[in-house]
Amino acid sequence: MSNELKRGLEGVLVAESELSHVDGEVGRLVYRGHDIEELARGASYEEVLHLLWHGSLPTPAELEEFGAELAAERAVDDEVLATVRTLANAGDRPMAALRTAVSMLSAYDGESGDGDVLTEGAAITAKIPTILAAFERARQGEDPVAPDPELSHAGNFLYMLTGTEPDDVSEETFDMALTLHADHGLNASTFTALVIGSTMADVYSSVTGGIGALSGSLHGGANQDVMEMLREVDDSGKDPAEWAAEARDEGRRIPGFGHRVYKVKDPRANILEEKLRDLADSSGDRKWLEYTTAIESYLEEEGLVEKGIAPNVDFYSGSVYDAMGIPMDLYTPIFAMSRVGGWVAHVHEYQADNRLIRPRARYTGPETAEFVPLEER
Ligand code: ACO
Repeated sequence: MSNELKRGLEGVLVAESELSHVDGEVGRLVYRGHDIEELARGASYEEVLHLLWHGSLPTPAELEEFGAELAAERAVDDEVLATVRTLANAGDRPMAALRTAVSMLSAYDGESGDGDVLTEGAAITAKIPTILAAFERARQGEDPVAPDPELSHAGNFLYMLTGTEPDDVSEETFDMALTLHADHGLNASTFTALVIGSTMADVYSSVTGGIGALSGSLHGGANQDVMEMLREVDDSGKDPAEWAAEARDEGRRIPGFGHRVYKVKDPRANILEEKLRDLADSSGDRKWLEYTTAIESYLEEEGLVEKGIAPNVDFYSGSVYDAMGIPMDLYTPIFAMSRVGGWVAHVHEYQADNRLIRPRARYTGPETAEFVPLEER
């Protein structure tokens, strides 16, 4: 047994997967061989889910059936919605509310724990947008909007959030963002879901754990941090490059920069940057685009990109959501709304040839210690 310690499991292979591949040296991401650029531009999130869960892009008939299957699962039990409302009134913690609500869903699923991963996974995936939209409306003092089975996954979320059917540009942009975030190898939240799945726990537990892991600032939480940074730059009245220089001097990490696997700019960041440019061109509001590109150029000049610390997916996603009028603290929950597809796919794939995930720690405590009874300590 090897005693080599791999901190953060860096570079360690723990499973085989056909789902997605990240080539961090050249900045390429594929889902089952399909380049992310092609999928983002040409396939809907539902098609991508079908690809990840069922192994191929659907035919039109398969897509219709699959879309209907998801749409039929969108309604959320009233008691779960009541809890979501309570949590919305208790404070602005949508990731905590989502985590709690997904965990609670299992109590309302007759098959929980016995059901098939993909069936239960589809139910969870379909319900997450309903939960999030209900959370947002509750804190605005509004009643939830019932899902519309005629709308796409992306379009229906925007509809439930605002009460109005989205325009085509918003729906397409949001759908693209969902596709871009759907899967990404064994990232921290997917690995969390896999560890839980490897114990043969139900998929609700895997998704609940995945949401917890995604919430952290080193992972999915970075998209909100980027937007907070842009607002901080704005409030400071400083030039974005000057702000970035000072942040670096203070030893701060720039959110949305750096990645464990990518050593070049994340391909998803390139696509979102392009989207942000389109949105800025059509609205005429270029502020976040200008700040973001100024910070990126400064860090590039400072040699960060050359050192392999380049923009990741979170660097541009927040500004895209902001341009769509989505509140900042929903960015990370929206990431979860998409990545649930990857969590479910990985658990399903792994359990087909399951082996309990159980690594070891190198023990660095004392060899022996004297036991002193409580009353003598
Ligand atoms: N800003 C400035 N310096 C950075 C940044 C950053 N964002 N990220 C890494 N570095 C530097 C570190 O200070 C370190 O420098 P040193 O060797 O001189 O001490 C070096 O790069 C390596 O950093 P590590 O933390 O060891 O690299 P790791 O692979 O563990 O980090 C991580 C990856 C956590 C994503 C890191 O880049 C980071 O904290 N980024 C900011 C948060 C972020 O954007 N997270 C989202 C990641 S993508 C996703 O999960 C969707």
